[in-house]
Amino acid sequence: MNTLRLSTREEDLNIAGRIIRDGGLVAFPTETVYGLGADALNAEAVASVYRAKGRPSDNPMIVHIADATGLYELIEGGASGLSEEASKLITNLWPGPLTMVFRKSDIIPDVTTGGLDTVAVRMPSNPTARRLIRAAGRPIAAPSANLSGKPSPTTADDVLEDMNGRIDAVVMGEQCDVGIESTVLDLTGDIPYILRPGAVTREKLMSVLKRSVLYDSSLLERPDAIADPSEGVADTDFKPKSPGMKYKHYSPNASVKLIHGNAEEFREKAKAIGIEAMKRGEKVAILDYDNDPGKAAHKLFAELRELDRQGYSLILIRMLDEEGFGFSVMNRMLKSAGYDIVK
Ligand code: TXA
Ligand code: MG
Repeated sequence: MNTLRLSTREEDLNIAGRIIRDGGLVAFPTETVYGLGADALNAEAVASVYRAKGRPSDNPMIVHIADATGLYELIEGGASGLSEEASKLITNLWPGPLTMVFRKSDIIPDVTTGGLDTVAVRMPSNPTARRLIRAAGRPIAAPSANLSGKPSPTTADDVLEDMNGRIDAVVMGEQCDVGIESTVLDLTGDIPYILRPGAVTREKLMSVLKRSVLYDSSLLERPDAIADPSEGVADTDFKPKSPGMKYKHYSPNASVKLIHGNAEEFREKAKAIGIEAMKRGEKVAILDYDNDPGKAAHKLFAELRELDRQGYSLILIRMLDEEGFGFSVMNRMLKSAGYDIVK
């Protein structure tokens, strides 16, 4: 298959929209990471997303909409099925990097939700994403546009690295602003639970809802280092509610190790470990994001991919304080490292 490169101009987005309506696959930028989009209501199109990604098909997809009214047909009970809390979140935090899980309506095929009776919905803020959804005239199911197990792509070139020849088209937009995937919030129970932390932090959600919001307990666990971070292998110690979180994720080919400490302590430890590794013939990269979660999120996945291309075999990264957005970024760093933290 020849993968079309499309621009963000209107005529190209109209072509992309038509491909989606016809059951094809189009990768597109969002403010978080690039998505691999298909018509969310077309079971065959959605099944081909799983194939293109090499993704286990019990892993449900996020459905993207451009307008809040697009939500009603997707959820049980329609407009009147929307709780007061969900309405508050929509008013204050959509469009943006927040995905909400609702009970689903019957129009959504099982394959889109991995057989669950709930559906995850997000309204992206990225203008290109919104224009594409409108051009398609359909809700768009889109996982991150990477091969399963690889870091999510945050540039159009990173999408092509994984997907060239496997999908119909890529909308060649900018590098993603946020750089890690959206916050996933489960609103189907009595207490809102964060299933995946992102740029919309727990603190932010609590300030909008004026009540407590909890992390899914799996987000607070620290399993021992995973020896073989091979793709898509379920880690059996891990039973999170968000099915996608049980798979090993975000791993470059290089091994990644995380190191605690202030700038100077990090430099010293990284130097010592790096010198030993270089004696064994390893090619070593050192990444320090100055304890700045915004900067780390924006660059992390793109840098892991770039270092792979350059043949690095060991990547040493300075850890962030796990507060606010730092907690979310550390969630991805820990997974990239297979929980390998240098003591
Ligand atoms: O930022 C993002 O969310 C990006 C962009 C493209 O929008 N998308 C993304 O999709 O990260 P994906 O498929 O890579 O991750 C979706 C996550 C998975 O962890 C999945 O298990 C969870 O959302 N999820 C989807 N539907 C769910 C549901 N009904 N209940 C619980 N978790 C769900
Ligand atoms: Mg993903």
